[in-house]
Amino acid sequence: MRIEAEEYRTIWFENNVVKIIDQTKLPHQFIIKDLKIVKDAINAIKTMEVRGAPLIGATAAYGLVLAIIENNEQSFLKKSADDLMSSRPTAINLKWAVDRMMNKLSGLNSDKIFETALNEAKDICEEDIKFCENIGLNGLKIIEEFYNKKKDTINILTHCNAGWLATINWGTATSPIYHAHKKGIPIHVWVDETRPRNQGANLTSFELNEEGIKNTIIADNTGGILMQSGEVDMCIVGTDRTLANGDVCNKVGTYLKALAAHDNKIPFYVALPSSTIDWNIKDHKDIPIEERNSEELSHMEGLDEKGNIKKIQIYPKKSKAMNLAFDITPAKYVTGLITEKGVCDASTEGLKKLFK
Ligand code: MRU
Repeated sequence: MRIEAEEYRTIWFENNVVKIIDQTKLPHQFIIKDLKIVKDAINAIKTMEVRGAPLIGATAAYGLVLAIIENNEQSFLKKSADDLMSSRPTAINLKWAVDRMMNKLSGLNSDKIFETALNEAKDICEEDIKFCENIGLNGLKIIEEFYNKKKDTINILTHCNAGWLATINWGTATSPIYHAHKKGIPIHVWVDETRPRNQGANLTSFELNEEGIKNTIIADNTGGILMQSGEVDMCIVGTDRTLANGDVCNKVGTYLKALAAHDNKIPFYVALPSSTIDWNIKDHKDIPIEERNSEELSHMEGLDEKGNIKKIQIYPKKSKAMNLAFDITPAKYVTGLITEKGVCDASTEGLKKLFK
């Protein structure tokens, strides 16, 4: 997708270095950063220079390529895989990508290991792009149905950033939106600000602007009244981990939007590639929910009058704050899962029909 009319992916490999767009600086500064050693990849995931479930997975895959460049002994590779795996707990794509890489690399001869790792990391990225494109084409059919009835602008509400910045290209929740826009369907997106890190305001709105898609940032609590007043036609969100029974774990606040959508009979879709499905955990209570530093709540970053990024404290110094990063939307509130293979019910039966 585009930034200032130039096509980018979120991650790529060049001259033995992994290149990323530093998302902690967007939308104010556009910085391409080099990851040179595996620790850089771990740090980029932890500090959220890269974030979003599929992109975290791709960064971990490339992190293992960097580990091999540093030291191609199996013991170092195994330790790097473990460190990458524990860099963020909730998005299942991280484990999925590290397992996929290690299945290819464990016990492999040192003369073949670099090329094999690089090819697999590249395949993970290419596959994600294809899957996200297909999610877009499948989601487009839903938007087209709405448009054929309404014949007017379709208002879509989204939470957090499940856009191209969270994947390699296209995004998950945004892919149907980009496809509809390309087909000439008028779209307007309500973008939840997504406190505390403001991925909606800083990233989703930014990338929609760059693609020329109308959007309005709203405070996280505004979705309810907009739904009550008929201003939302449908919701589409992403997910960090979806269980085989259709329960959806996504950025904190997703659940409250799903409840409001249910109460107002507004369709609530979740877009995901199959790499985000956790086929093993049966009960959502077993999903590790990340608790991040409370400073993300008590402090805010923005541009000062000189155009420099500045961090300020907004809470009373003595106040305690708690920062859970994800929540669970039970399957019963999800209208459908938009996957690379088609749209299905958020249920074991629905997912089984698509994924044998
Ligand atoms: O904490 P983040 O910014 O990594 O959270 C991202 C989300 O919650 C996204 O909705 C999810 O990863 C899906 S990305 C296609």
